Amino acid sequence: KILILDFGSQVTQLIARRVREQQVYCEIHPFDVSDDFVREFAPAGVILSGGPNSVYEAVGWHAPQSVFELGVPVLGICYGMQTMAQQLGGTVESSGKREFGYAEIRARGHSELFRGIEDRTNDEGHGLLDVWMSHGDKVTALPPGFKVIASNESCPVAGMADEVRKFYAVQFHPEVTHTIKGKEMIARFVHEICGCGHDWNMPDYANEAIEKVRAQVGQEEVILGLSGGVDSSVVAALLHRAIGEQLTCVFVDNGLLRLNEAEQVMLTFARNLGVKVIHVDATEQFMGHLKGVTDPEAKRKIIGREFVEVFQTEAQKLRANGAEAKWLAQGTIYPDVIESAGSKTGKAHTIKSHHNVGGLPETLNLKLLEPLRELFKDEVRELGIALGLPHEMVYRHPFPGPGLGVRILGEVKHEFADLLRRADAIFIDELRAADWYDKTSQAFAVFLPVKSVGVMGDGRTYEYVVALRAVQTQDFMTAHWAELPHSLLGKVSNRIINEVRGINRVVYDISGKPPATIEWE
Ligand code: XMP
Repeated sequence: KILILDFGSQVTQLIARRVREQQVYCEIHPFDVSDDFVREFAPAGVILSGGPNSVYEAVGWHAPQSVFELGVPVLGICYGMQTMAQQLGGTVESSGKREFGYAEIRARGHSELFRGIEDRTNDEGHGLLDVWMSHGDKVTALPPGFKVIASNESCPVAGMADEVRKFYAVQFHPEVTHTIKGKEMIARFVHEICGCGHDWNMPDYANEAIEKVRAQVGQEEVILGLSGGVDSSVVAALLHRAIGEQLTCVFVDNGLLRLNEAEQVMLTFARNLGVKVIHVDATEQFMGHLKGVTDPEAKRKIIGREFVEVFQTEAQKLRANGAEAKWLAQGTIYPDVIESAGSKTGKAHTIKSHHNVGGLPETLNLKLLEPLRELFKDEVRELGIALGLPHEMVYRHPFPGPGLGVRILGEVKHEFADLLRRADAIFIDELRAADWYDKTSQAFAVFLPVKSVGVMGDGRTYEYVVALRAVQTQDFMTAHWAELPHSLLGKVSNRIINEVRGINRVVYDISGKPPATIEWE
């Protein structure tokens, strides 16, 4: 396995993605882990990430010295190259000129890292590579034992290597897709240079994860909040395989789910897979507490609080029946877990609080079971498929914990939820039929509690408005509104107005994020 030490680059996670694409397991840890940690990790190779700092300003931002003493290959990227140069006796200077974006570099010598890799050759027969640069400092004197393996005019040392010790470093970013041959470079590093095999694959991982859960849990009981979303669904499928009857899922219907969602969850898990699922219809409880509440954050809090309340009651019932859970399973995934290099500067770790189950482990005094902690979202999906979950469920758009509660603007009412559910289902139906569902990252309808005038047949109508929202995004931090075909929008609008009595107007949201958010509340 490969150890990635994070110096705070925005793209460190991409390094991990690229390594795992090569079917090699890797983990990201902050750069300031101890020498003991590095030795115990026993990596087959180490990658030092980029970072926002300059090696002068960032006192103490260097790799544990043990990284260079283990006798394993090391790859430094951008800042990782600079700290490697400095730690091994070279010199780094501020270049005064920032290089950012595409650059053409010339591969020199015959480095193992670039063997057989070039985008094209120049007149003299030298290999040229298109890479993505982003740096201010540059290496001006090589550490002893190193030679230059890549350069261009503005960056004489764009790559360096000590082939004997297998230390490689590049000033550009091989992990981003803009570096055309970056994938091949990462492949060469992990397979050829570090000698890792192709042994990280989902079916094997699923079996290992199952064994691990069995060893961890033993004969004890586990409880899981099943929402029907991807992560908790995959956890349910995995745990069911691992411990069968020892797993009890609690599925809370808060009255704010999508059309037929409760039926689908019960069908997939309880009927088809034979998972023990307690279906709690708590619609009245949620609606009761939401009555008269219009503030979005207040609504979120109420929905979160009532979920915990319902969940606790169910856990206590189980206890009273002699099936006391010792474990609480959660669908925490790797991006939620990775500690940012900000820990060094005392900034908060970027660990997301799991909003939907906040506070549960403490109040119930349960041990946490998080079997997806090592996986990226797309790996969670692959695992779901490997465990036999339906494609439709595994590749479903994300749905917020507070559900339709944040898609009904202002006060939440039964009547509004029913109208919205039907409008939303029509929208999703038509997106799927037009092959647009997988081309959008998230799509849904929003209920606007305002009435407008319309005409239907010979009569005047005075009814509510529904807004359609569809976005495309990689990370949900920024998003573009989806340019859906007008004919598709027209069809959706017609169907909603004709089939959902109570809605007489449909509008399409053309706001990007930022400045708008994806959800309306
Ligand atoms: P925004 O609206 O902030 O949403 O652009 C970004 C992503 O997060 C989801 N979202 C939530 N998910 N609980 C959740 O579990 C919430 O309170 C919540 N608010 C937003 C949203 O659906 C989108 O995918």
